[in-house]
Amino acid sequence: MPETIDARLLAAIDDYVGRLYAPPDWALSNAIELARRAGLPAINVSPSEGKLLNLLVGLAGARRVLEIGTLGGYSAIWMARALPPGGRLVSLEIDRRHAEVARNAVEAAGLAEKVEIRVGRALDALAAMVPEEAPFDLVFIDADKDAYPAYLDASLLLLRPGGLILADNTIRGGDVLAPHDEAARAIAEFNERVAADPRLSAVIVPIMRERIDGLAVIRYLP
Ligand code: SAH
Ligand code: DHB
Ligand code: MG
Repeated sequence: MPETIDARLLAAIDDYVGRLYAPPDWALSNAIELARRAGLPAINVSPSEGKLLNLLVGLAGARRVLEIGTLGGYSAIWMARALPPGGRLVSLEIDRRHAEVARNAVEAAGLAEKVEIRVGRALDALAAMVPEEAPFDLVFIDADKDAYPAYLDASLLLLRPGGLILADNTIRGGDVLAPHDEAARAIAEFNERVAADPRLSAVIVPIMRERIDGLAVIRYLP
């Protein structure tokens, strides 16, 4: 990719939006701090993307949300906050230590009643879910990138008609335009399969970090 984009400007713009519309409160700061102290990678969504997730969960009127990739629970807190009373978020995480940090962060945020974190390979957890716990109103995909195409198939089996799939990291600084690694190839395949599926209507919302990434917003209308 040509390096013509000013990374500092992108970060400054994202900070600007975050400070305006997604200022940190105690529970969100605490989630970041717990993750930092536990040595988790800082690959959670940004405050502004967290706010976008929160708005989309609310706009969709979602009562049941599925997250693939919990990390320290930061995005889970943003989404769970938009759930109505009785709403539920199930989040899948392969790493026991990540799940433990996330449970603490979710509990401290007062959301323990709404959020359930399941430890294990997401594809196994998803297969085990069919059909007992379906349907979900919204699925947020944010785990290992190689498995995005498989997560798309699994999500469609669990989603109600009219439901939403959100997928993080679908631009990868432009790597999807000419993929040179497995992760970028898998994401490009994910994007193309979404485009080719007549049941799906989608767009990718650009996400500004140090580079441009994207959140795919996909509606399932079979
Ligand atoms: N959604 C989080 C960030 C998730 S980072 C947030 O924004 O706060 C990706 C997470 O997916 C990591 O915690 C990683 O351990 C987890 N993961 C990776 N491969 C996985 C798999 N096969 N099944 C479940 N979780 C997986
Ligand atoms: C990275 C960012 C992500 O949003 C993610 O889900 C995984 C990795 C990264 O910046 O490396
Ligand atoms: Mg991500």
